[in-house]
Amino acid sequence: LSTESQSILSAYEWLAKLYHHLLRHTKDGKEGYTYLKERGLHDDTIDTFQLGFAPNITDFTTEFLEKKGFHQQLMVKAGLLSQKDDNSVSDRFSGRVIFPIRNHLGKTIAFNGRAINGQGPKYLHSAESELFRKGKTLFNFDLAKKHIRKENEAVLFEGSMDVISAYQAGVKNGIATLGTSLTDSQAKLLKRYVDTVILCYDGDRAGMDATYKAAQLLQNVGAYVKIARLSEDMDPDSFIRQYGGEAFIDQVIKPSTTFMGFYMRYVKKDFNLSLEGDRIKYVETVLRQVAVIDSPVEREYYLKELSNEYNISMDTLTEEIHQYRQKSG
Ligand code: UTP
Ligand code: MN
Ligand code: MN
Ligand code: MN
Ligand code: MN
Repeated sequence: LSTESQSILSAYEWLAKLYHHLLRHTKDGKEGYTYLKERGLHDDTIDTFQLGFAPNITDFTTEFLEKKGFHQQLMVKAGLLSQKDDNSVSDRFSGRVIFPIRNHLGKTIAFNGRAINGQGPKYLHSAESELFRKGKTLFNFDLAKKHIRKENEAVLFEGSMDVISAYQAGVKNGIATLGTSLTDSQAKLLKRYVDTVILCYDGDRAGMDATYKAAQLLQNVGAYVKIARLSEDMDPDSFIRQYGGEAFIDQVIKPSTTFMGFYMRYVKKDFNLSLEGDRIKYVETVLRQVAVIDSPVEREYYLKELSNEYNISMDTLTEEIHQYRQKSG
């Protein structure tokens, strides 16, 4: 590790500790603490994730880092301070609740800061650095790793709050990307530890689109994908807040469906199923996807489902799927 990287790690360690201490024990961090309590987090969860608060005091962090002897330009590079056009340097995360992002060794390499007064973007991440690449990092991977191995299953969420809420509810094999789509290298990293990945993204349209993309990536690296279902207006954290952790495990995680189960719902948006022409196109679209399934048993299962729902004979469906399979070789 270069001396610069060591210095950056040390700055993150100092600040993570300081922000956490301020949130838990001081007046300057009280609004952050109150915010997290109102969102249902317990003290031990706040401690496990070392959640903190960057106080809303001008130059607080800039001055702290200076006093500790950290080189200012390096701290800008580390994504801890911001530099404006006029070259003046200021705090980057002030007034935000801090979620430390750790690498697989448990070292904090970045922050994700959530605004609590509606100022600026909802979440702000540290800028990327030599130590922090968004597309190669998974939130909570260091703590989740041993649970992922033990259960041979990982649960992939959209946001860090989802991971933390689920963790508090007993789902400890949860991880999340950092506000970006899942990348190929994250998918490969996961596949090294686990065969099955449960996708548990937000129930809204954006979450479903992201689910579809992540499922393709994961299947391409050979992972088996299951999909957890949430209603349109829910994300995992809000579900847990409303119905509790037990309901989350019993009604969301355990009944996760196969990718096809999700796909049948997902592509319905492109069709008006009250129109005959659209119903036919919908069935054809689903059939194309069924055609690429390797297992004959699984193929037959979905054909039966389509046959029942759309009143088309199994013979016809089988014949059509045969054509698709021949075409795709
Ligand atoms: P969401 O909008 O679903 O946020 O974005 P969330 O996780 O439910 O957060 P809460 O419950 O409102 O606190 C999902 C993820 O996208 C990234 C964050 O990483 C977030 O967790 N994001 C979102 C950003 O990076 N910036 C934003 O302004 C918003
Ligand atoms: Mn503590
Ligand atoms: Mn979302
Ligand atoms: Mn969300
Ligand atoms: Mn949320």
